[in-house]
Amino acid sequence: VNHLLGIKYISEEDIQLIFETADHFKEVINRPIKKVPSLRDVTIANLFFENSTRTRLSFELAEKRLSADVVNFSAASSSVKKGETLVDTVNNILSMKVDLVVMRHPNPGAGIFLSKNVNASIVNAGDGAHEHPTQALLDAFSIREKLGDVAGKKVVIVGDILHSRVALSNIFALQKLGASVKVCGPLTLMPKHIAHLGVEVEPNLDRALAWCDVANMLRVQNERMDNSYFPSTREYVQQYGLNLERLQKLNKEITIMHPGPINRGVEITSDVADSNQAIILNQVENGVAIRMAVLYLLASKIKNYD
Ligand code: CP
Repeated sequence: VNHLLGIKYISEEDIQLIFETADHFKEVINRPIKKVPSLRDVTIANLFFENSTRTRLSFELAEKRLSADVVNFSAASSSVKKGETLVDTVNNILSMKVDLVVMRHPNPGAGIFLSKNVNASIVNAGDGAHEHPTQALLDAFSIREKLGDVAGKKVVIVGDILHSRVALSNIFALQKLGASVKVCGPLTLMPKHIAHLGVEVEPNLDRALAWCDVANMLRVQNERMDNSYFPSTREYVQQYGLNLERLQKLNKEITIMHPGPINRGVEITSDVADSNQAIILNQVENGVAIRMAVLYLLASKIKNYD
């Protein structure tokens, strides 16, 4: 497969290969000279139809560290505003001899649609509430780095599960790697199909924290919802906000994660987000090595390096 469209479509072996490759690139980007020539004959287009800070910069840095040629496209300043379709837009970009497309899009399944309609490798950088595969890979890689392994670990994903591509991709990745996964959040923010994913819903945050080794705190995605069915922010903070008081009640030290962007004081307080238990910036650091690994492995297939 010459795409990364979702964690659902890759195997545990694929994930382990990405991790081993990322181990190498993490060592590379910590050298005084962070750049390697691996992709110097590869051209990558980063197409962002939705806002991003971490993912966009992380892909661009990963590409530059691999010596790829990079073009960046932001829908807001493009001819998409004049009515050009996604397929026409991408085919025009590909005709400029682009080898690989990284795309973030607000619509679930946009990456899958594109992969069936254009002749290029596609990396999904987040498609609506569907999947965010490189986020799940960097999250699991960060758990492996902090706790030695993902297998056997207990991970709770807390918050707005319904609108979260991070939650879905994390569930697939963690299960493939042998972790136990629970989700915790208001029932108004739980997908109806959650039971079919093999995860238990724990509606009580304190019980979820007492159970877990790792808590992955998600942002409430106000931009994807009608506020009428959401608990008020004050109720949400009371029931699902992670604060020091909750952590201090536990007789163990759990690892705290967040994919960013953080709404400080809502899903997590600043003292927790900035504490030694939080690995939030390690996740961001690892994102570059993970994306280098994904791009290197995909480009190796396109260019037949092996
Ligand atoms: N975690 C994440 O995807 O952040 P951005 O939306 O800033 O890319």
